[in-house]
Amino acid sequence: MRAAAGALALSLVLVACTSSDKVDAGETRTSTNATAPQANESLMELVDHVTGLTGVAPAGWSQTEYGVHRASADPGEGVFVTWFLPGATGDSGVRVMSAAFGDVPLTYAAEHRGAVFDFKVYDFVSLGGLADGATLTGQAAVATEVEGAYVVAIAAGPDRVEALRGAIFEPALDALGPTGSAEANLPGSSENAMFLDPGAPAAQRAADLLSRMSLREKLGQMTLIEKGSIDPSGVAAYAVGGVLSGGGGAPADNSPSGWADMVDGYQSGALTTRLGIPIIYGVDAVHGHGNLDGATIFPHNIGLGAADDEDLMRRIGRATAVEMAATGIRWNYAPVVAVSEDIRWGRTYETYSSDPQIVTRLGRAYVEGLQLSELADPRSVLGTAKHFIGDGSTTWGSSTTSDYMIDQGVTPVDEALLRDALVPPYQALVDAGVGSVMVSYSSWGDTKMHASPLINDLLKDELGFGGFVVSDWGGIDQIDPDYTTSVTTSVNAGIDMNMVPYDPVAFMWTLGNAVERGDVSMDRVDDAVRRILIAKFEMGLFEQPFADRSLAPAVGSDEHRAISREAVAKSAVLLKNESGVLPIGDDVKSILLVGDAAHDPGVQAGGWTVSWQGSSGPLTGATSIREAIEQRAPEGTRVFYSRTGRLRGDLEGLRADLCIAAVGEKPYAEGVGDDEDLELEGVGFLANLGDSCERSVMVLVTGRPVIVTDYIEDWDALVAAWWFGSEATGLADVLFGDRPFTGRLPVDWPRSADDLPHPTDPLFPRGFGLDG
Ligand code: BGC
Ligand code: BGC
Repeated sequence: MRAAAGALALSLVLVACTSSDKVDAGETRTSTNATAPQANESLMELVDHVTGLTGVAPAGWSQTEYGVHRASADPGEGVFVTWFLPGATGDSGVRVMSAAFGDVPLTYAAEHRGAVFDFKVYDFVSLGGLADGATLTGQAAVATEVEGAYVVAIAAGPDRVEALRGAIFEPALDALGPTGSAEANLPGSSENAMFLDPGAPAAQRAADLLSRMSLREKLGQMTLIEKGSIDPSGVAAYAVGGVLSGGGGAPADNSPSGWADMVDGYQSGALTTRLGIPIIYGVDAVHGHGNLDGATIFPHNIGLGAADDEDLMRRIGRATAVEMAATGIRWNYAPVVAVSEDIRWGRTYETYSSDPQIVTRLGRAYVEGLQLSELADPRSVLGTAKHFIGDGSTTWGSSTTSDYMIDQGVTPVDEALLRDALVPPYQALVDAGVGSVMVSYSSWGDTKMHASPLINDLLKDELGFGGFVVSDWGGIDQIDPDYTTSVTTSVNAGIDMNMVPYDPVAFMWTLGNAVERGDVSMDRVDDAVRRILIAKFEMGLFEQPFADRSLAPAVGSDEHRAISREAVAKSAVLLKNESGVLPIGDDVKSILLVGDAAHDPGVQAGGWTVSWQGSSGPLTGATSIREAIEQRAPEGTRVFYSRTGRLRGDLEGLRADLCIAAVGEKPYAEGVGDDEDLELEGVGFLANLGDSCERSVMVLVTGRPVIVTDYIEDWDALVAAWWFGSEATGLADVLFGDRPFTGRLPVDWPRSADDLPHPTDPLFPRGFGLDG
């Protein structure tokens, strides 16, 4: 162990010694000072020497401002330098750089970069904790002490960061073992290698393959990188184990073949590696393959909770899997099996119910549909139970993530809640063979779930989960400001694959160092890699790594849309129906449609549709409420539409037999949707309508209950349609009585937002729903 650590450090020093002090635009600058300064003056000299920052901008950089901070009250401890380049790339419009010299605590660096500059934390990828005494996190610069010599590397802009990697990270990673055939000194993949035998059991194939892998290759398998941060050659160079599309992560050509080309491209990169281990590609197909233009979009889970139909869930899982497989994707980050406790949570719509039994049976049926009984079937998709555990039970106001209020917050420690409500869905999904489990951003008491003993003790040991555990997006980074601590803690806590949004190399190097130091055992690494490899063998990825393009016609097919239509009809909950206004009878000769959701497929689909947050606007192949009603209305019934309810021109003076108002929440995802008031929005049309409606139906197109108490008297009927997806035809089915209303509320519907999280006097209780 020790010897290998020395080799790693040595490669750093060598890099430092052979590089020049010259700074050119677009180049990385590395420098070393062999006699490490001890006193603060020397540190300041080092700052001058290395960065040229005391008054003079580094040559070729359009730097206009910089700051030198002392790390603490004691000037002897270190110097922290930040500077920025206005107008350079970056989310905030500036490229912020920082460097630490001497003993600057990571917490200080973290605080200062945030305090001085307004930028998003993820502008910075942690590069800290790279070696003993490492002092800095920052995308653009790294300063670290290696065996008494300071190595300072400064880079700005993506090109310089790349160069920085080339100069420091990659040689260091190379010290961890081969990836390319030229360097192979481990047994490779000869033709009769056992791991290549499709007839051998997955566990044996995994053991055989593991015995051929270098540490570096193992680190690669544990890395899941967002596709925007890597290209196929990067997949090959780092031999990463997985690639994902985050919310909205579509290729430029957002078609089945565009996706298949992209995913197959990454796969081709992976197959050129020494051992040819295929990647697993993942996506959030949480209500159908939502990032794919033209896919069938199903109701979000809350609607499916209202439908409570296991057979339907299996068929939705199946249809989703086939549309995914058509694009070469075999791994879905679904279902959410949170038990939703507080509807103010922005992810309420991703949950089935506040009733653990509903969550359990629907989650299990969905996974059965996704995975089939045979994962090796190329049309099966590996499911992910998420987010382990307590994500739906956090306390309002406990979140510390950006301006989130409850998402990613703290679940109060409560053993009874855990055992009675939260564990049953996981136990059922584990028993059903769910392939992966994603860890929750939330905390259980004081402990971030990404660092929690519950992963090993509860999930793996007690529930017997044999698949692999994946982190959430950058989730491990939230454990500690020191990246090394975060990596070590989370991997030891039982996370097998790390979802890295931006920088696989920093993760691999940091984990590699931790292994070399003995902070993470090789047994733990082997256990993680074995779990990942077994899943890949079971899925048949070694035999069929590429997309099955013959499935493309299934995307958005009539057959799949019919399943979604059925789901829309079954999920609609009839909350009020005065004097039988529904179903719409033949006596209705004129219908006036109003409201923001009446003709807006983007709104009716909600979050996680084409983009992460979702948005208003058209969706390929979808049917809006207006279109569905126009199609279904009997001949002789006129259908009018006015989004705002203003009746001008031909519509002036209209008095419709029936008004249907469709109002929705504007799409959102995750903590962006945390909402304290749950006010019904978009009801401006009320003032415009005057007495244009003989009778009226309100259709709520929302991700959760909203407060309708003040309005309900004014409407003859009220329907909760949820964010139901692409097929408004299913809604027309129940409105016109072609199908009965059978949906039941999966959560309590509060009278007032003050009566949350657990309504004492709900307007409608869970389980409520009229037959119609
Ligand atoms: C990505 C999402 C991800 C989110 C995390 C977004 O930019 O598209 O997939 O969940 O960031 O904050
Ligand atoms: C979400 C996960 C999702 C991941 C990848 C995260 O922000 O919490 O549910 O699977 O992003 O998009």
